[in-house]
Amino acid sequence: MDEKVTTHQAQDDARNDDILVWVDGQMRPRAEATVSVFDSGFMLGDGVWEGLRLYDGRWAFLDEHIDRLFEAAKAIDLDIGMGRDEVISALLETQNANHMTTDAHARLMVTRGVKSRPFQHPSLSRQGPTMVIIMEHSKPKIPRPIRLATVPHMRGLPMTQDPKLNSHSKLNCILACIAAEKAGADEALMLDVHGFVNTTNACNFFIVRKGEVWTSTGDYCMNGITRAKVIELCKANSIPVFERNFSLVDVYGADEAFLTGTFGAQTPVAEVDGRIIGTGDMGPMTERIRALYKDLIETDQSQNT
Ligand SMILES: Cc1ncc(COP(=O)(O)O)c(C=O)c1O
Repeated sequence: MDEKVTTHQAQDDARNDDILVWVDGQMRPRAEATVSVFDSGFMLGDGVWEGLRLYDGRWAFLDEHIDRLFEAAKAIDLDIGMGRDEVISALLETQNANHMTTDAHARLMVTRGVKSRPFQHPSLSRQGPTMVIIMEHSKPKIPRPIRLATVPHMRGLPMTQDPKLNSHSKLNCILACIAAEKAGADEALMLDVHGFVNTTNACNFFIVRKGEVWTSTGDYCMNGITRAKVIELCKANSIPVFERNFSLVDVYGADEAFLTGTFGAQTPVAEVDGRIIGTGDMGPMTERIRALYKDLIETDQSQNT
């Protein structure tokens, strides 16, 4: 058995033992960064979150992340209790308190707050919301291309729990990941309700076939910001890109496959259900898109003040 690999692996960094965490306006050492056992997020997964990455002093695609956070909060009828600028200020305060200038990752979470009693009804959330920002020094270090396994856990329909929503309720994805691990893979490849290939449990999924880049229609996956940027980059650089239905037959026969997400940017996929994809190493299209994305990050002008 080789080493366990995840798509969110980073270099060890001892500075992370001493990070300060933003908890409802206060900077707290990680051991003291706690929320109530009555918190709606802890108790019921009732909250929304964003993952953001700091490159060379700038939070990549900050506007898009803040837009998505407010959109998600509105969708679950959660009043963040702060404006966009205040949320950005909290992020920058956390960054400054931790003396971070580059290669950091933030998880910004907002829940419906502290409940008066341990039950589901949102009206029981009387105090809050609760907002927490965990920021870590983070240089992704994924030792080899990722292995995926398809699992029986599906991406849900929009009217059950819209899979576009970055909610704290991740159990469907976690169960998918557990099933994939038990099958000897690193992460789960999830299908939609029609059996078309959709996304992984934590990242968006792309394949490359004969010079074309394919990803799912987007109907059942997270509206990933990295996914959107990759599609835009392909269009801007005359790389044929399609948001379309495709099946496992197309995946197994692909020349390349890769994952996208804020944490790891583009992560090559070596294997799906025991089938080697292409050569099993990072392919030329994945490499090209990674380079284009890196350039885009350097020129991103999104609001950071
Ligand atoms: C299920 C899932 N898919 C994809 C992504 C990647 O989205 P992004 O590119 O916005 O980080 C995430 C990250 O939050 C996710 O949770």
